[in-house]
Amino acid sequence: MTEGIMEKIVSLAKRRGFVFAGSELYGGLQGAWDYGPLGVLMKNNIKAAWWKKNVQERADMVGLDSAILMNRKVWEASGHTKFMFDDLVECKACHHRFRKDKVGDECPDCGGGFTAAKPFNLMLETAVGPVASDDNKTFLRPETAQGIFVDFPLILETSRKKLPFGVAQIGKSFRNEITPGNFVFRTREFEQMEIEYFCKPDEGQYQYEEWRKAREQWWLDLGIKRENLRLYEYKKDELAHYSTGTTDIQFAFPFGKGGWDELEGVANRTDFDLMAHAKASGQELGVFDEETKAKIVPHVVEPSAGVDRAFLAFLLNGYDEISGGRSTTTEANKEVETVLRLHPAIAPYKAAVLPLSKKPELSEPARALVASLRKRWMIDYDEVASIGRRYRRQDEIGTPFCITFDFESIDDKKVTVRDRDTMAQERIAIDELEMYLNEKLRY
Ligand code: GAP
Repeated sequence: MTEGIMEKIVSLAKRRGFVFAGSELYGGLQGAWDYGPLGVLMKNNIKAAWWKKNVQERADMVGLDSAILMNRKVWEASGHTKFMFDDLVECKACHHRFRKDKVGDECPDCGGGFTAAKPFNLMLETAVGPVASDDNKTFLRPETAQGIFVDFPLILETSRKKLPFGVAQIGKSFRNEITPGNFVFRTREFEQMEIEYFCKPDEGQYQYEEWRKAREQWWLDLGIKRENLRLYEYKKDELAHYSTGTTDIQFAFPFGKGGWDELEGVANRTDFDLMAHAKASGQELGVFDEETKAKIVPHVVEPSAGVDRAFLAFLLNGYDEISGGRSTTTEANKEVETVLRLHPAIAPYKAAVLPLSKKPELSEPARALVASLRKRWMIDYDEVASIGRRYRRQDEIGTPFCITFDFESIDDKKVTVRDRDTMAQERIAIDELEMYLNEKLRY
């Protein structure tokens, strides 16, 4: 990654309405970000692409949307009240706090020394009901996974699935991170896309390896460059308390350990969670095995990805600058041009309709065209400024196609379609445009 790319991404994100600092009017709130008009489109596209691949296209997967607030006993049974800690150190001079594993012996802000490390629970506490008391205390979920485990018997019964099968869920999670930072990489409120895949105990390792491959391929299929992606398998002493094997799918973020950091984790959680909930709730969470005619507790493989990290990775991966510009020589502009090379499935707008002039004889049919395309896709419309400037505005937000309606279009009923990446232009009949775009935007 080139130097200063994070600053450029943060600035582009704000300028073009992808991401704003949360509560900015009141000075912001650390670790909270708002997704603006373009950001929400792109985030929804990431989630839709994940859902399509992992639920819609698979016979062995179902979906779930469980509550963020859960009975506190869930967090006791899962081990979160006991294990969800980070070691926190405080600078003796400036009193800034850091995660111990993220700093050396000296405070990065003032060079002061640290206090001894103290464990800090990362779960955000809340009270359910009007009066806060110990009895109604619970936590905002720090992962969506537990909703799937707790609902496992109901899902099994209602979906009539047989092992192996999985449950997918997308939703918000909360962690009171000691050091949120790097834009939307580490925040206190974030979104996860999680799968719990249930299988027979002796299939755990095989499914773990299959999911690693499948999940890596998903990122590549959506345009993440090979050189920006790698798998990192945990050593035994690095594993979480519930896991016998974990692989991080890492992206070449321009920060993190040696330039790599976690995008998604794929973990073999064995029967840890179902056993823990069976024990704590007193309910059986087994599955009847036709072969052995006995109940077994399934093992679980969990691919868990962050939506916000995916969002940042797609922006970084797609960001391209062309110095001197790539427009025709007639264009006066010779500044640096930015092109966001997003996969069409991820791009906020799939196309933009640009009438060559604002005159009604062009703008009226162009508006009719955009209205009809909007029945199928998010399409932008822009009639302000020169056509070159309008192309650049669309390139900068990653719109794969620009559709120009010119004076000839009135007679020949054709428009010019320009490709964001190649800048190639094709003349397409208006009544074939939807079919043409459908082919190009297929994912
Ligand atoms: N259920 C397993 C689990 O939650 P995790 O590795 O702690 O595992 C999974 O989280 C993913 O959630 C991470 O790979 C990351 O993409 C995302 N994530 C975790 N903490 C985050 C945070 N504070 N901000 C943004 N994304 C986060």
